[in-house]
Amino acid sequence: MTTRSTTVAIVGAGPAGLVLAHLLHRAGVDVAVHERRSRDELERTARAGVLEHRVVEYLRGLGLADRLTAEGQRHGRCEITCLGEKVTVDYGELSGGARHWAYPQQELVRDLIAAYRADGGTIAFSSPVGAVAPDAAGRPVLRTADGELRAGWAVGCEGAGGPVAAAFPDGAEGPARRYPYDWLTVLARIDRPVAAVRYAVHADGFAGMMPRTADVGRFYLEVPAGERIEEWAPERIRGELARRLELGGADPAPGELLETGVLRMRGRVARRIRHGRLLLAGDAAHTVTPSGAKGLNSAVADAADLAGALLAELDGDGGALDGYQRRRLEAAWRTQEFSDRLLDLLHLPAGLPPEQREFALRLRLERIHRIARPGPEGAAFARAYAGAGELPAARVWAPAQRTAVASGTTDR
Ligand code: PHB
Repeated sequence: MTTRSTTVAIVGAGPAGLVLAHLLHRAGVDVAVHERRSRDELERTARAGVLEHRVVEYLRGLGLADRLTAEGQRHGRCEITCLGEKVTVDYGELSGGARHWAYPQQELVRDLIAAYRADGGTIAFSSPVGAVAPDAAGRPVLRTADGELRAGWAVGCEGAGGPVAAAFPDGAEGPARRYPYDWLTVLARIDRPVAAVRYAVHADGFAGMMPRTADVGRFYLEVPAGERIEEWAPERIRGELARRLELGGADPAPGELLETGVLRMRGRVARRIRHGRLLLAGDAAHTVTPSGAKGLNSAVADAADLAGALLAELDGDGGALDGYQRRRLEAAWRTQEFSDRLLDLLHLPAGLPPEQREFALRLRLERIHRIARPGPEGAAFARAYAGAGELPAARVWAPAQRTAVASGTTDR
């Protein structure tokens, strides 16, 4: 049994935990990062892959986007098919210049780990945290495999249902929605890159084709809620993708299926993401469906805000962490509303009889035309979709200025 102490304990080395660790470490704050998965698993697990304009600009400002901008692909258009029409939404133009970058999340994680370690940071991989409980002074004590870690603050960046969230009085619960459908998720080898995100609004259910790398694409198929992947043989998946997405000779053809699964479609925002010295960021704070590709992006935005708030708190601003909670819960609801509205556009209402589907599709085609057209609605959609604007600039101090608080024993 060992007892260690740190100023900020971070549970989870995904994008939120790594960006936060990076910013605090650079500012001279003592940080301990615990990740339950191995480094190898973390760097190999395929997840999201579309990064917002403001997130990439932010990472670029920190010097963390070199490989991303060298190897990632820029995307400023998406296509939406409906009733045999293909509508191109030139959101790069409509937003006044904000575009996405396609770059797999596991590659970003790999870059963030490498940069953090190059800066002298350490991460305990394969190191799950058990219970988190306050000591007599109200400071979090984290149980780890080899003993306990006493922290000034504990930040849960470990996804939904992790130990920091579990230490909140309400388990960090909050309003949630289970959607009446799921998405079958497919990672497939492709013979040419996905040139633009494609959404198919279809009488038999939504389908999507998203970029990852030159020879791998991400595909989605709407399936009934609770569907089991066993129902979907590779040939059935490929056939349904080709049909709903209306894949033609010029489009990528999904070949070998590298990974398939069924994603339970849920939205959730915790009621509180700060409880005393416990904080949540990323999926630990909110779950968003993949629609609009906001999960990874809001995780980085949470970390950016939280780093500034923790540094301000360490400098004696007692309201800084409540400001974090207020701003990021507002942002989480903006994100939920955007993803929910996009889901509503992409899916027909549950249980709609076949003879009423064309009417519902016609209404959706009307909305698709409206967001593709220059004007306030097109601009608002494009800006929200591409993540126009900026994240809070990183306030990074020289390490020497922070030694007074680096011990984790300050009373502030
Ligand atoms: C994805 O890249 O997985 C993605 C992109 C855009 C969406 C949904 C998912 O709207």
